Amino acid sequence: MTRIPLVAGNWKMNGRRAMAAQLAAEVAAGAPAGVEVLLCPPLVYLDTVAAAAKGSPVCFAGQNVAATSDGAFTGEVSAEMLVDAGCQYVLVGHSERRTLFAEDNAQVADKFCRALEAGLRPVLCIGETLAEREAGRTEQVVNAQLEAVFSRITAAQLVGAVIAYEPVWAIGTGMTASPDQAQAVHAHIRARLSGAFGAELAESLRLLYGGSVKADNAASLFAGADIDGGLIGGASLDAETFLAICQAATA
Ligand code: 13P
Repeated sequence: MTRIPLVAGNWKMNGRRAMAAQLAAEVAAGAPAGVEVLLCPPLVYLDTVAAAAKGSPVCFAGQNVAATSDGAFTGEVSAEMLVDAGCQYVLVGHSERRTLFAEDNAQVADKFCRALEAGLRPVLCIGETLAEREAGRTEQVVNAQLEAVFSRITAAQLVGAVIAYEPVWAIGTGMTASPDQAQAVHAHIRARLSGAFGAELAESLRLLYGGSVKADNAASLFAGADIDGGLIGGASLDAETFLAICQAATA
């Protein structure tokens, strides 16, 4: 099964309108063929980014989504609003949401299901902390994060979804997982998918690696048989660097 690689730039809470427009235009102009390119800008700049990338195949995602439908939820943004604003995808369960905003597995599963209901493709972010890895609990943690979602959905609903493995200790630290460490967890995730939903679906889904991916380590990470691209933080804020990472995913 050939999976089209996916490289997503998670801008997090960075930039201003002019920077967002310029970065999106440069990414749109330089996006290589053979890889799906996804931008996750701050929500207030989504229209600007979409306008700057108009006519290009670049896709867009929210960085977060409300766990509920529209209503009296001050400060939240619904899945339907993200669709309305031009998003095809949404990140759910990013480790910064889990750690800094106390999102637990159940809330993440709620958000995942809401995204599906609205027709968005969720990008489920999972990963262990350094303490969990050192305690030999990586698979256990990842299993619980997956199971919270798997127990709520069918195989048919999972078509088109994406899973991003982002070890918390590698995010923004410059401490990238080695290609072998990343591939081992990705193979484990695919095996869990296969066990829960069958080999065909498991083979069709894209698994991204995230955590200090840079232009000089992307190719070796993406060479992993079960690594289908990346979720890029800091390095996605520079067009040349991000495009080099996108290029590495096409190889
Ligand atoms: P960095 O690439 O800055 O480590 O961030 C990874 C990440 O959290 C992407 O969602």
